[in-house]
Amino acid sequence: MRIESPREFERLGAVRIYGLQKVYELDAGPESGSPEGGEDSVVRRVSSEALHEIESQMAIVVPVRNERLKLIEGVLVGIPHDCLVIVVSNSPRAPVDKFFLEQEAINNFCRFTRKQVMVVHQKDPAIAAAFSAAGYHDILDDKELVRNGKAEGMIMGSLLAKMAGRKYVGFVDSDNYFPGAVNEYVKEYAAGFCLNPSDYAMVRISWHSKPKVVENSLYFAKWGRSSRHSNMFLNKLVGHHTGFETEIVKTGNAGEHALTTDLAMSIDYATGYAVETFHYVHLLEKYAGILTEGEGVGEDMHRMVKISQIESRNPHLHEVKGDEHVEDMIAASLSTIYHSKLCPESLREEIEQDLQRRNYLKEGEQLAPMRIYKSLDRMNYDQFFATSEAAIRAAGGTSLTVPVASSKPSPVEPTPAETAED
Ligand code: GDD
Ligand code: MG
Repeated sequence: MRIESPREFERLGAVRIYGLQKVYELDAGPESGSPEGGEDSVVRRVSSEALHEIESQMAIVVPVRNERLKLIEGVLVGIPHDCLVIVVSNSPRAPVDKFFLEQEAINNFCRFTRKQVMVVHQKDPAIAAAFSAAGYHDILDDKELVRNGKAEGMIMGSLLAKMAGRKYVGFVDSDNYFPGAVNEYVKEYAAGFCLNPSDYAMVRISWHSKPKVVENSLYFAKWGRSSRHSNMFLNKLVGHHTGFETEIVKTGNAGEHALTTDLAMSIDYATGYAVETFHYVHLLEKYAGILTEGEGVGEDMHRMVKISQIESRNPHLHEVKGDEHVEDMIAASLSTIYHSKLCPESLREEIEQDLQRRNYLKEGEQLAPMRIYKSLDRMNYDQFFATSEAAIRAAGGTSLTVPVASSKPSPVEPTPAETAED
């Protein structure tokens, strides 16, 4: 891959937010003898060997909730072979056992590709028992099962990645129409880790474009509604604390992102779709040296937290899930900024006004805080690993590195309608 060096960065304590990096070539060839693109060059080359080396240490978590099987399969097609794939599904099991169908389709795919894919259900009681045994109860609901939500699935996936010994963990949504885009995202994660290495590194993708049909022709929109909002308010937050207005943040809602497993274990998470915006808020709370008190604040300040932002080239096309969904996502994202101790009163007012203007909040109503999960490094990993591995073996899996279906599927035949849809 040939990729631009970041031209600028914002530094807040131990946090570095690098400016958006453009990709010039998706494949820049293998290692060559001639030196090209050293640390001081404007454009850097990452050889296919270097990308491959990182991919072989990476797990890719694919969160799924009731997506079409063809889309999930296309996403798996795009993930480079040496990544361990961890599918965390929260699809319904009744009246039609969607999870069973997903397992069937994925097992079939693995037969042809010999890819390593782990498939788990978010409501698997064995995983919930492992969380409980490890002393991490917050993620469990009143039925003692893992709560619903994309972030909750990501948390499960990150732990499984750690359990499998992977150094990096990345995320790709399962409703992506283009396998080529998925492949590009994973290569960009690898390139980001190569170019800005750190134990605490994160790579976030900003889509180059999102195709839409406008007046009967294709229009390649740049920003989604949700990211436009999150980016603007995150930049105001950063600007407030540096004293300089900035546009550095372009990936406030990056569903497609990756981080070192060490960093994934050390950060707090916000529930559901607030998760990605809260990454920025929380990293600033914990590592920017602005807050002087609070749990974890000031720890590990000597470790550099590097956030790379890479602009992908493929258009991003995914399922359209409606206006209400987008509005909820905006409010959830902004809530993490609004309720942060870092947020000044003036910014809180701006957020309130914005949500009122769009009729999301009525005058006098308060923006609800999001549920926050404390970092995973406070749990007893040995207990979690021992309990979940025992459950995986009991369900017929042999080790964490072979295709595993930890939840025993019930044998439900697909209805004709299901088959037609997929
Ligand atoms: N395991 C699990 N559990 N997966 C879930 C759940 C859940 O409860 N809810 C949703 N997912 C899966 C979906 O199947 C999809 O693959 C992915 O999470 C993202 O969900 P979408 O519902 O498709 O979200 P979106 O496309 O509107 O938003 C995406 O892009 C935003 C940036 O524009 C998400 O990735 C957001 O987190 C991101 O901010
Ligand atoms: Mg989507």
